[in-house]
Amino acid sequence: MEGTLTESQGSGQSLELNADKIEVLGLADPDKFPIQPKKHTLEFLRENAHLRFRTNTFGAIFRIRHAMAFAIHKYFNEKGFYYLHTPIITASDAEGAGQMFRVTVLDPVNPPLQDNGHVDYSKDFFGRPTNLTVSGQLEGELGALALGEIYTFGPTFRAENSNTTRHLSEFWMIEPEMAFYDLTDNMDLAEEFLKYLIKYALENCRDDLHFLADRLANEEKEKPKDQRSMDLIEKLEFVVNSKFIRITYTEAINILKNSKPYKKNKFQFPVEWGIDLQSEHERYLVERHFKCPVILTDYPKEIKAFYMKQNDDNKTVRAMDVLFPQIGEIIGGSQREESLEKLETRMKEMNIPTSEMWWYLDTRRFGSVVHSGFGLGFERFVQFTTGMGNIRDVIAFPRTPKNAEF
Ligand code: 4AD
Ligand code: MG
Repeated sequence: MEGTLTESQGSGQSLELNADKIEVLGLADPDKFPIQPKKHTLEFLRENAHLRFRTNTFGAIFRIRHAMAFAIHKYFNEKGFYYLHTPIITASDAEGAGQMFRVTVLDPVNPPLQDNGHVDYSKDFFGRPTNLTVSGQLEGELGALALGEIYTFGPTFRAENSNTTRHLSEFWMIEPEMAFYDLTDNMDLAEEFLKYLIKYALENCRDDLHFLADRLANEEKEKPKDQRSMDLIEKLEFVVNSKFIRITYTEAINILKNSKPYKKNKFQFPVEWGIDLQSEHERYLVERHFKCPVILTDYPKEIKAFYMKQNDDNKTVRAMDVLFPQIGEIIGGSQREESLEKLETRMKEMNIPTSEMWWYLDTRRFGSVVHSGFGLGFERFVQFTTGMGNIRDVIAFPRTPKNAEF
C-alpha cells in the first residue's frame, strides 16, 4: 500500500493511511480465510492458533508476553543474578510427584526386555530412564550454592491430567534460587519481583493493556453488576500498590472454616488441616476475605516436596505459595532443607531414591548454607497481566491433555 500517513479522523486508531495504490501481495483464497472482520470467539481462535496472531487481541497478548520475558531478565540482571540454563532432559523427578513425560528412543512395539520382563533401559539412548524436566530447581540449587544468586527461565513439562483454565502440559517457569536467603527474604524477593514486572507492563505496554482492558470491560457488561471484576489496569495498579498479606497455612484453614461458603456448604472440596487447598479456597482468601494478594507459608509436610526445610513442630515445612486474584497459586517456593541428615531421612520416608540423587545430596555434604527459591509460572503470570480467562490463550501453541496440534 502506498499513500499519505495522516492523523486519524475517526476513533479507534491514532493514524491512518490515505492510500493511492493498493496491491495484493499474497492471498490465494481470501474467501476461505478463517479470520474475518467480525467478532470471533476465543474457542474458535484456539482452533485456528496458527492464524490467531493476526487478530488485535492476540497481537496485544504476545507483545505483552514478550515484554514480560524481557523484564524478567532485566530485573534479575539488575540485581546481580546469573541466568542458569538447567537441563530439559533429566533422570530425576524434582518435585517427586511422578508427573513426567518419558524420553526414549526404544521401539515401543518391541522394546529390549530384562529377564524379569521389564523394559531394559540400559539399552536406551542415555542408558537409563529419562524424562522431560518438571522443574530446574535441583540443578538451580547447585548453581546458587556456587554463584550465590541464580535464576532459570525455561520450558517445564507436566504429564498431569488437568483440564483447567490454569494448567498446561508444557509451560515456562522462572526459578530464582538464592544462597543465604531464608523464607522471609524469599517472600520479599517474590513480592518485589511481581510488582516490578507489573509496573514494567504498566509503563511499557500501555496501548496493549488499554486494548485488552476495553475488551474485558465489554465482556463484563454481559454479567450481573455484582459479579463484574475490576478494570484490568486498575487491578494491576492495585497489586503494585498493595502490601501482600502473609499468613500461615494453619491460619488460612481457620479463616476458611469460619467463612460463609464453608458454613453454607458452598465449597466443592473439603477444608481440613492437612489437605491441599483447592483453587476455590485460594480464591476465597484472596478475592473475598483479604481482597489482596496473599502469601501462605508453613504448609503440612505431607502435601509438599521432599526438599523443603522442616520446621521444629515436625508437622510443617517452610513453604510459601503466592496467591493472586483470578489465578490462585502463581508462585510456589520454599526455604530448602540444608541439613544432610534431615534431607536424607525425609527422602527415604517419601521413597525418593537417594542413591540416584547423590549429586543433589553432595551440596549438603560439601558446605551447605541456608538457601531458598521459588518458581513463577510464566503463563499464569501473563494470564494475570492480560486478564485472559484461559491459560491456553497466553501461550502460542498450547499443549494440554489430548491436544498437541500445530
Ligand atoms: O509449585 P510448583 O510445582 O513448584 C516447583 O516446581 C518448584 N520447584 C519451584 C521452586 O521452588 N523453584 O510450580 C511453580 C509454579 C506454580 O506456582 C504455577 O504458577 C506454575 O509453576 N505451574 C503451572 N503453570 C501452568 N501449568 C501447570 N501445569 C503448572 N504447574 C505449575
Ligand atoms: Mg505448587
